[in-house]
Amino acid sequence: MSLDKTYRLVPGTTIFDSEQSAKGYHLNQFCMSLMQAENRARFVADQRAYLDEWPLREEQKQALLDRDLNAAIAEGGNIYFLAKWGAALGLSFQQMAGSMTGMTEEQYRDMMVGGGRSIDGNRLDHAVLEAAYADPEPPAEHAVITGAVFTSHVPAIGAALDHGKTEEPYWKPVFEGYEYSKQWIADNVPDVVFLVYNDHATAFDASIIPTFVLGTGASYPTADEGYGPRPVPGIESDPDLAAHIAHALIQDDFDLTLVNDMVVDHGLTVPLSLMFGDVEKWPCKVIPFHVNVVQYPVPSGARCFKLGQALRKAVESYGKPLNVQIWGTGGMSHQLQGPRAGLINREWDNAFLDRLIADPAGLAQVPHLDYVENAGSEGIELVMWLIARGAMGDVDGSGEVEVRHRFYHVPASNTAVGHLILDNRNP
Ligand code: DHB
Ligand code: FE
Repeated sequence: MSLDKTYRLVPGTTIFDSEQSAKGYHLNQFCMSLMQAENRARFVADQRAYLDEWPLREEQKQALLDRDLNAAIAEGGNIYFLAKWGAALGLSFQQMAGSMTGMTEEQYRDMMVGGGRSIDGNRLDHAVLEAAYADPEPPAEHAVITGAVFTSHVPAIGAALDHGKTEEPYWKPVFEGYEYSKQWIADNVPDVVFLVYNDHATAFDASIIPTFVLGTGASYPTADEGYGPRPVPGIESDPDLAAHIAHALIQDDFDLTLVNDMVVDHGLTVPLSLMFGDVEKWPCKVIPFHVNVVQYPVPSGARCFKLGQALRKAVESYGKPLNVQIWGTGGMSHQLQGPRAGLINREWDNAFLDRLIADPAGLAQVPHLDYVENAGSEGIELVMWLIARGAMGDVDGSGEVEVRHRFYHVPASNTAVGHLILDNRNP
């Protein structure tokens, strides 16, 4: 097996991982609804009717109606979620656990009083485990990263597009910088864009501040950031690839937050509009990846660059022949606050672009203070570009990159617009 999922070999045990979570998403969310007294009352009054309100598979509904927790777990349920269902029916954890063992309630309780189930006879088969580890075969076909797109994501660019202002003298030079890009992407539509962006106090408020968020859900609607949602499609994702990446990155020691349900703001939609233009539906799947750059401490450039390298390994170990692009968004220099608002540093921005191309490992060592002083407080968004750059094949020397397009313009609203397209030439 290409990823370490050897936990599947432990007998009588189902480990709740991203795959199980995707399978049981609605089942577990149904369970959560039972934390409200009003919902519990409706459920208990007519279980079938309440279950029918949820987009559950019949197997999932039947498992609950039969009180068959083994079946519910096989269907993606997790015991801590199912405990809410059990509580609504007056079941304790011990009653629920015991119900899965083929014992009566009394037999199970007696077993626990007697010291619990013995590990003897319940170990995994080490011969099977060794066979699983002794399978280093890389997948015969796998996903490849074919390129990277870097771009600023200013909300006013979205507004200019949405309100037909692209030909106005202020905006024309901005959009001209993306003419080549629109042709390039039309000729190189990937299967999946892994889109690195930052949420701007839209999906995540002050109650939760995750550093890295990987979207593992199936789709995400466009956010209303206060002016009504942009008139652009929501995104469809590739939850199977996202689950694979989650597993690979977390095993590589990147402690991600996995999010199945969220809205996506201008940080993600403006780059899509700049590249794909005005479309009914985005022409490829998009996996959202949010980086906290709103509240300090934010991740370092070095951490982002390493994450990009781990991301490449993750994508290339996925056993489907997908064409994947990694996009890094945000920046360039801008400061949206205080007496220094409006700061633009052309020299620093262009040196950043030069080093992003030719010396990304050196650029990754630049500390936050440098970004804040030289690119303005919001210029810190540029650390996200290092994730996309780290995922290119030249970083470990096995491949090469080629600059397809480079563009720089001041201003768009408060921001310097920077844009770069790299082709990733795999060996
Ligand atoms: C602006 C730029 C941003 O990157 C952003 O997230 C919000 C506003 C601006 O220049 O107005
Ligand atoms: Fe931004």
